Amino acid sequence: MYGCAVQLDWLNAEANLREEVLAQCAQLTPELAFKWLAVEPRRGELDFAPADALADLAAKHGKTLRGHTLIWHRGTPAWAEASLRADKDWTLLERWLASIMPRYAASVSEWDVVNEPIETGHRQDGLRQSVFLEAFGPDYLRRALEAAHALAPRARLMINEYDLEYPLQEQRDRRYCLLKLAERLKAQGAPLHGVGLQAHLDLRKGHIDAAAVTRFCRELAGMGLVLRVTELDVKERDYAAPAAERDRRVADETRRYLDAVLAEPAVLGVSTWGLSDRHSWLTVGADDYARFPGAWTHDDGPGLNRGLPWDAALRPKPMRDAIRSALGAAQAQKS
Ligand code: XIL
Repeated sequence: MYGCAVQLDWLNAEANLREEVLAQCAQLTPELAFKWLAVEPRRGELDFAPADALADLAAKHGKTLRGHTLIWHRGTPAWAEASLRADKDWTLLERWLASIMPRYAASVSEWDVVNEPIETGHRQDGLRQSVFLEAFGPDYLRRALEAAHALAPRARLMINEYDLEYPLQEQRDRRYCLLKLAERLKAQGAPLHGVGLQAHLDLRKGHIDAAAVTRFCRELAGMGLVLRVTELDVKERDYAAPAAERDRRVADETRRYLDAVLAEPAVLGVSTWGLSDRHSWLTVGADDYARFPGAWTHDDGPGLNRGLPWDAALRPKPMRDAIRSALGAAQAQKS
């Protein structure tokens, strides 16, 4: 199953993008609309209009919607963070879950309950020192899953995490900590059903560790968890190479990664974090420009990272073919 993250404004403003997204994707992920920060920027003023509109679009076109994301240290409004720190009031979190989960019971069958709970280098258990950990201790994950399960008893509940791919000590530690976390939660009987692998690949970090990725997926699956690649894209290292070469490098890394992940049959599908390079959160930053002075005049121009399957003019790139063939091969193997 292929899907991508979307912002409804872009789909509304650009008919060709909307058409391509609807033609290509079985599943949509709201890039922003479901985040607490977006829904309730001021206390008590909940605005579900953008999320409702996206749910309507998905329903109209027979697309499933990923519930991304309920509890995220970077997706929490400032007022809520301050309040959680001051009062350590669990009902505040519960009210947020209760406001959004039942509302989308019909359109969302899979929720990222906690996003990015791991951070290495601070605590033995590798839990991120977020406001949630500070307010409620390590048990907040189990409690959040229980609360979510009570509100959406049929939904698949997931933890979604990044930086799990490269042969770097930090990422080895992250994989280990996430496995241990999943193991603890399962041992406690928490309703954790799956793990989302964000997969923001990064050519500046070298190549992914295929054997480690496959092993990691197998261990998670061994706990009875399903997996999904949730936010695939590729940050480039060298913006000075010709566009075709850049596209080849992006596609090669994508293929390497998907072959490693999809070796595990418990992987349900792959979503990219956007469809077209035109709308990627991976922007080319000042540091990138500084590394390639004078490299910005060739054919396809400067400015855009080419790490999504369709280019800025909505032409499919080799990355699209890499995803398609990896998914096709995995499908063939299953049947
Ligand atoms: C990002 C969006 O793409 C940005 O537009 C927004 O400003 C911040 O969030 N991991 C996640 C996603 O789980 O929700 C993030 O999305 C990217 C990193």
